[in-house]
Formats: sequence, C-alpha cells, structure tokens
Amino acid sequence: MDRNELVNELARRRGFLWPAFELYGGAAGFYDYGPLGAPLKRRIEDIWRQYFVIAEGFAEIEAPTIGVEGIFQASGHLSGFSDPLTGCKECKEVYRADHLIKHIIEVPDALTNEEIYRCMQENEITCPECGGELSSVYEFNLMFKTMIGPGNKMTGYMRPETAQGMFINFPRLLRYFRGALPFAAVQIGKSYRNEISPRQGVIRLREFTQAEAEIFIDPRDKTHPRFDEVKAIRMKFYSQEAQEKGVEEEMSFGEAVERGVVAHQTLAYYVARTYQYLLAVGIDPQKLRFRQHKSDEMAHYAADCWDAEVLLDRLGWIELVGVADRTDYDLKAHTTVSKVNLSVFVNYGQPKKRKKTVVKPDFKALGPMFKSKAKAVGEALRALAPEQLAGEKIQVNIDGETIDIDRSLVSFESVEEEVRGEEVVPHVIEPSFGIDRILYSILDHSYYEDEIDGEKRAVLRFKPQVAPIEVAVLPLMDRSELVGPAKKILEELRSRGMRTDYDTSGSIGRRYRRNDEIGTPYEVTIDYETIEEGTVTIRDRDSMSQVRVARWQVVDKLQALLNGDLLF
Ligand code: GAP
Repeated sequence: MDRNELVNELARRRGFLWPAFELYGGAAGFYDYGPLGAPLKRRIEDIWRQYFVIAEGFAEIEAPTIGVEGIFQASGHLSGFSDPLTGCKECKEVYRADHLIKHIIEVPDALTNEEIYRCMQENEITCPECGGELSSVYEFNLMFKTMIGPGNKMTGYMRPETAQGMFINFPRLLRYFRGALPFAAVQIGKSYRNEISPRQGVIRLREFTQAEAEIFIDPRDKTHPRFDEVKAIRMKFYSQEAQEKGVEEEMSFGEAVERGVVAHQTLAYYVARTYQYLLAVGIDPQKLRFRQHKSDEMAHYAADCWDAEVLLDRLGWIELVGVADRTDYDLKAHTTVSKVNLSVFVNYGQPKKRKKTVVKPDFKALGPMFKSKAKAVGEALRALAPEQLAGEKIQVNIDGETIDIDRSLVSFESVEEEVRGEEVVPHVIEPSFGIDRILYSILDHSYYEDEIDGEKRAVLRFKPQVAPIEVAVLPLMDRSELVGPAKKILEELRSRGMRTDYDTSGSIGRRYRRNDEIGTPYEVTIDYETIEEGTVTIRDRDSMSQVRVARWQVVDKLQALLNGDLLF
C-alpha cells in the first residue's frame, strides 16, 4: 500500500473520514467527518479564525448557502461556471471533453466546444470505458439548482463559493466599519459544486468547506501596514516566469515584492499569512509552494492569483488555497445587476484644490431649443476634450442627435475648487481556503511509520493545536484501584478544557499504538507507583520517551506541554 492508501484506510478505520450515505449505496463527492475528523476540522477552522479574524481584525459573517439568481448572474457563475462534457452513446458514462484531448492539444482552455469535438473526432477518441461513440460537446453548469418555495416561482442555487455573501453585503459591511477602507469580512462554510467525476476522496467534493476572506482595499494604495512583519519570511515562489523554466525560486517576501515577482505588498502580505497559517496547522514546508496562475487559467474575475500547492502522495501537486486579486470585478458586476451603487467615498486627509472648467453657453443667443435642454448641453460641453473646442463650430451629441454650436456663443472659465475626497470602487484581495483539502494534506504530511521491537508503528505527527485528542488517560490495567485515580485525572483534564480519551481495553502497548495512530500527542499512565508514590507517567508520542511526574503536578505539566513548553 502506498501512503495515499494507508492514510485513507487509517482515516476510515479510526473515524476521521467516512464515505457518506454508505447504508444506501453511497454517492461520489460526499464525505462524513467521524468522531476524530470533526474535531480535527473544527480545530483547523479555529486556527484559521485566529489568523484571519482575530489577528487581522476582520469580521466573520454567516450568509445563506442558497442564493437567488441575481447573485450568480452578476458573479458570472450562471453563464461561465461550467465544464465541457461529452457522454458515451452506449454505456452512458460522462467525461470532461477537454480532459480527453489534453494530451493532444496543449491549451484546451482556449478551445470552443465545437473545436474540442472536432479534435476528438479527428483523433478518433472513443469512450475510455467501453470504446463506444461519444456525443457532441456541451456545457454543464456546476451549480446545484433548486426551487425556493412552492410553484417554481423563484430559482435558487447552492452557492459555489462563500465569497458572494460578502460582496452582496458590502453596503452594510461598509457601514459596520464606519465607512472607511480597508476592511474585510470572512466566512467559513459549505460550498457546493456538482463536480463531474469526484474520485479523489475529500480533495474533490460536491459539498465542501471553504474559509474565505474578502479584503476591500483602496486600489490606489498597494502598501500594507504590516508587511514589515512578514518580509523576511523565505518561501518557494513558482511564478509564471519560473514555470517557464520549470524551477521554483526560493526568496523572501521582501525580495519578491522588490523584484516584482508578487505585484504588490497587500497581495504578498496575504500570501505570507497563508504560508504562516498552513505551517501552523501542520503542512510540511518542504512540500509546499506558491504557484502563480498562468494568464489562460486565471478565473474570469481575477487579475492575479497565487495558489498554495502541496505535494501529496500519488496525487502530486494539489491546490489548497488561492490568493487572488479580484480587482473591482465583483462590486462593479453587482452594481450593474442590482443597480445599487457599491462605491466608497474616500476622504482625502487634507482637502485638495482642483481646477474646474465652468461652461457658460449664451442661451439667449442660442435660442429656446437649447435652453430647454440646458443641463444636457452643459454636460456634453464639459465632457469635450480641448481639441474638440478648437474650431469655429463645436459638435455635441444631445439625445442621440449631433448639434453644431457656434464657438463664440460659449465661454469657458477655469476656476479653482476644493474637493474633500472621491468615489472609489474598492478592489478585493481574496485568500480562499479549502478546509477539506487542508485536512487531508495534514493527514498525508503527518503520517509516518517506524519500527519498535520489529513491529511497525504508524503515527500521525499532529501538532498539539490540531490533535483531536490531546491527552489519553490510560490506567495500566482495568482494576478499580487504578481506574479510580485515572478517572479523577480525566475529570481534572476535562475541566481545564482539554480534549481527552480514556481507554482500558487491551494491553498498554496496544493502547499506546492506537493513540500514536490517531495523533494523540501525550498519554498519562496510572500504575501502582501512582498509588504507592503519588506519581504518574507522561508519554511523548513522537520520541516515545516517558517522564514520571508528581500526581498533583500532572494537569499543569500537560497544560504546559500542550502550550509548547519542553519537558522531554
Ligand atoms: N472564491 C474563490 C474560489 O472559490 P476556488 O479556487 O474555486 O476559488 C478555493 O476554490 C478553494 O476551495 C480551492 O483552493 C480548494 O482548496 C477548495 N475547493 C474548490 N473546489 C473544491 C472541491 N470540489 N472539493 C474540495 N475543495 C474544493
């Protein structure tokens, strides 16, 4: 078995991840998180909150997972969130048509469905399953569609990303943040995509959890006040240029911004925070890189995007996070569809002086026809460029009609005015995390095997901060004189908020193995010396060494160990 199989088997057997609906035959793309998987996921999310809510001062919101049509019309998901499909006319199996020709044509993204189909025909591509004839290529929208209320009156869609919840609440969020940029809102929640053939466990799901931050910034300011805190961090950058050479470049964030590898400080800052977060939850930095999207793979809304990719056994490099510069795409799109202005009035600290041209047409001389359209005439004249005012006649367009005006009947006066600020449509920087993929990657990167006394030991080397069980309490034997004091310790640990397990089944060696396998960092063993001398042992999962500590100190010692203090 390779690591991928070992990890999946362990995850299933020990209660981390279970394929959903097994009782009814299952459905691809859905997973249950079991008694160890659910707390592991919750802890990964809680650390995300530490990084992207508490430390940054962002606001967490919770929007519905079903959205109305207008949202996805504006976001572009209704028209563009689809894959080209083809189906077998005989066995009815369905395939991503672009994937079938990937090895024949290099850039399938740029091809139309007709071109993909032609390429399939020219190369005589048949059904990989049964060799049958394949249908023409059609678009399949990945959103799950539903009806809101009875009578098919209102169409709803399961959200394909949490991001839109933040965009459509922009006016309220702006008010919450007292009208000033920058500010940000986040959501951790379920997203839904009707993926074509989800066959990679929790890497590709039809229902999955995203943690997304939408950071609204003034587009004219690309500096970040906390960039100094991250600029010395070194990391592997796989820029568009580096991808052409096929080698990642290691450098600091400071260097990356200076050399223009990452476009600006704000984008670089959130890539750096993403890097710090991934390390904090247990991603192996040796198997982590940040890859810039090539221009032909960029999402329709993004001007730049850096993916955190990890190396996983069997699966290769997999995207865990995308940090995108979404520009003003979404706010402008929602302004167009909703007809609500989504700009911000940005105050200059000091009012600025600005030259303004006052246009004064001589309406008396121009006649009553012009006077009745005074406002439109004034606006049209003000919009003209200087070269359009050079001749004897000025041409303006009023209500679709081109009208000539005598230059001598219009005076232009340049005056100075004071302006306090201007209307700006904010740009958005978006770190978008896939929690399920992060969880699986932690399992893969934490898993290792060693040998004790000729026997294989499987270990999940979880960081204590994410471990679903932090301390296992193990009486040496299932005897009342040991069980009593063990249960007392268990109660004390629980009252301190520690995640515990209590186990008396099987030999102590087997119980240690079981806890190593589920990633429990520490075990407390209660034995006869506990009764005689008032001591217990604390065992360290990774080194397997044990220290004996006084019974009355054990809870404090464990708390200190979980906080990162050294004992072993
Ligand atoms: N709002 C931006 C957005 O949704 P994305 O790259 O489509 O961007 C962000 O998704 C992250 O969500 C990905 O990096 C990935 O970790 C996760 N993700 C996307 N589709 C997924 C799926 N079908 N199953 C599991 N995770 C998925």
